[in-house]
Amino acid sequence: MSLTPIGGRPQDDLRQKVTAASLRERKLRHEPITCLTAYDYPSARLIDEAGIDMVLVGDSLAQAILGYENTLSVTMDEMLHHVKAVRRGVKHALLLADMPYGSYQADANEALRNAIRFVKEGGAEVVKIEGGEKRAEVIRRIIDAEIPVCGHIGLTPQSVNTMGGYKVQGKSLTDIEQLMRDAVALDRAGVCCIVLEGIPREVAAMITSEVATPTIGIGAGPECDGQVLVFHDILNLTFALPAKFVRRYGDAAELIRNAVEAFRSDVKSLQYPGDAESYHLPKETKVGLDAVLARKLAMRR
Ligand code: KIV
Repeated sequence: MSLTPIGGRPQDDLRQKVTAASLRERKLRHEPITCLTAYDYPSARLIDEAGIDMVLVGDSLAQAILGYENTLSVTMDEMLHHVKAVRRGVKHALLLADMPYGSYQADANEALRNAIRFVKEGGAEVVKIEGGEKRAEVIRRIIDAEIPVCGHIGLTPQSVNTMGGYKVQGKSLTDIEQLMRDAVALDRAGVCCIVLEGIPREVAAMITSEVATPTIGIGAGPECDGQVLVFHDILNLTFALPAKFVRRYGDAAELIRNAVEAFRSDVKSLQYPGDAESYHLPKETKVGLDAVLARKLAMRR
């Protein structure tokens, strides 16, 4: 017998809620932290039910869902709309929302107001902010307002124009020193985790052993305390060549293409719907209707 009521959740699901405060304990226990992005209710639910620790409503929403060219265009309102949907699907995982470009750079008061919107309206538990040393002050301000913050350094997609493209960061000694300063600044500011994106594994390993804060890698090698990937990347739903670090765990594009083509073909060839997929009249009504049709036919003759 299934333990899952229709539209419900497994009833024997007694997993503990993941909290921002519990992430450091995981680092101390060397327990790898898992994180995937999600942008809607069904994917959030499936990810949560599969036992993933953290769900990030990334600003990668811009490309993955909204078809923008990069993350710079996505707005607070668009992000919020999706954070709310994901909130409804997540029960155990820690829910993180990405502060979009322009929502925290102009001034600290506005940054705080936007972070509060994510918590109050969206139900997010953590907000993520790109940048290291230069964001430490605004991050402190947000943490002071009781909102846990996740840092993000290395290849920070909102800096695409200043980086001159999506390039692996931290390759020179000067860049490594800056990355280390950024990580230490975030650690001291009190972030609950730090995303390390697109940096050499050796640099990520150094940062991970230097800071008490758990590091979550994406294209940063296996020594990080956890790993995050974009949901649409692991399922081949991006229409683009995957980055080197992406591992594809399924081919949803192929699955969808086959299903849509089969539906089209069935309708065109009158194979869908069949009798079993149709509603039927009650017996008495059918008898009555047959009589009416027979009378009409007789009158026409
Ligand atoms: O927006 C996003 O999906 C992210 C992850 C890749 C870390 O920031």
